[in-house]
Amino acid sequence: MAINFKDYIASVPDFPEPGIIFRDISPLMADGAAYAAATDEIVAYAKDKGVEMIVGPEARGFIVGCPVAYKLGVGFAPARKKGKLPRPTVSANYDLEYGQATLYLHKDAIRPGQRVLVCDDLLATGGTIAATIELVEQLGGIVVGTAFLVELTDLHGRDKIKDHDVFTLTAYEGA
Ligand code: PRP
Ligand code: MG
Repeated sequence: MAINFKDYIASVPDFPEPGIIFRDISPLMADGAAYAAATDEIVAYAKDKGVEMIVGPEARGFIVGCPVAYKLGVGFAPARKKGKLPRPTVSANYDLEYGQATLYLHKDAIRPGQRVLVCDDLLATGGTIAATIELVEQLGGIVVGTAFLVELTDLHGRDKIKDHDVFTLTAYEGA
């Protein structure tokens, strides 16, 4: 029987602040069958794209991207927050609600021309994924797709990555 992924995503009102509904993927990760099914859906999406490498942004992008990399038999490169990567990096800025943040990727994480799938848990405003794509493209990688567990459609994240293909398992209207 097909899994309804929304059954495994907890909606937490007023977190982290009043008026926001937090879509918590912890129950999905805690259920072996649901976590495997979510991974398999992304693997199926990626199957004919010739993916050679997965990149995921810290921290929840690791949770989604690593099992996909394992299943596809390809490597995983982490896009990390400030001060975490020990060797030479490229960087990309993105907007937070207040101010800016920066993501980093090791310069040797991606070879020019390498075909990359970018994975994260959530597509909201699209800032995080746009920055992650920018990192891959700075290194000459080709982003062949992006995959998420959850999309918050009202925040129009797709508009920030118009040139890229987007796959999401579930979508919610309203933030
Ligand atoms: C959350 C989430 C996505 C991002 C989506 O990450 O995991 O990466 O926000 O929002 P956006 O589309 O508006 O950029 P967060 O920065 O909270 O960090 P975490 O993954 O380390 O928990
Ligand atoms: Mg994140």
